[in-house]
Amino acid sequence: MTQSQELRLGVIGDPIAHSKSPVMHAAALRARDMAGEYIALHVTPDRLEETIGAVRRQGYRGINVTIPHKENVMAYLDELSDEARRIGAVNTIVNDGGRLIGRNTDGIGYVRSLKEEAAARLEGRRIVVIGAGGAARGIVHALAAEGPDRITLLNRTTQRAEALAREWSDLADIRALASERTAEALADADIVINTTSVGMHPHTEELPLDPALLRGTEIVSDLIYNPLETRLLKQAREAGCVTHGGLGMFVYQGAYAFEYWTGAPAPIEEMRAAVLASMGVSARNG
Ligand code: ATR
Repeated sequence: MTQSQELRLGVIGDPIAHSKSPVMHAAALRARDMAGEYIALHVTPDRLEETIGAVRRQGYRGINVTIPHKENVMAYLDELSDEARRIGAVNTIVNDGGRLIGRNTDGIGYVRSLKEEAAARLEGRRIVVIGAGGAARGIVHALAAEGPDRITLLNRTTQRAEALAREWSDLADIRALASERTAEALADADIVINTTSVGMHPHTEELPLDPALLRGTEIVSDLIYNPLETRLLKQAREAGCVTHGGLGMFVYQGAYAFEYWTGAPAPIEEMRAAVLASMGVSARNG
């Protein structure tokens, strides 16, 4: 199959109207002076298979995949990266001449953001992850590759954390603790990461843990980027912790995707600025 000159890119999800990916990738293409388009496709689950067929045939170079398709899309692809297979989710598809390769850039995007923006070194660190759902899987998988001293998983449903710790016991020292033992887990943590949706708009008053327990924690990170500073991060900042919000994860997961599709380094700052500008506009309108 011949690739047209224009780079065809897009994102599929349901809902999709509020996705910031189109504005971010349009800015990236512009900054790199590349001809192309990145469109949002509203795809309901019953149309997933035919949409992937169209992506393959119509010369799309790449597609991002978001909720609710990250797991189900795997069945329609030709190849999965090791990472995507182990995480059990795909957020980026690369179309190599009609052959669709599924990858997962969420976890590595998060870790690149954490290292660029807050924690230059993760090796030997004691990391606590709150949550054990889909988002936690990507992040724990990528964190494990950085050689941490240990990763402790805390989750409302303890069995889910235990299952994840067991599944990935070959990757790092990963352990699970019941959420009643949060104080114990946080007592000697260097880095605490919230992967749950607790504190996300519109429930911005909620906290995933008692911030009084963060005394002594060096870095507190939250995957949420709406609001940009969650209540957890505000209280952590006031307690003297270095804080790290979720915007960088969004930008860097897109940056890796852009780099896989184009082979060119992603223009990180232009991408970040475009997302922030679009959030500013929607905040004023809303
Ligand atoms: P995601 O892909 O965003 O991680 P998910 O797979 O549904 O979504 O996982 C959501 C995570 O947030 C889970 O760890 C969930 O805890 P449970 O496993 O006990 O369900 C956690 N979570 C969601 N709402 C929560 C709440 N109100 N309090 C505590 N944890 C919550």
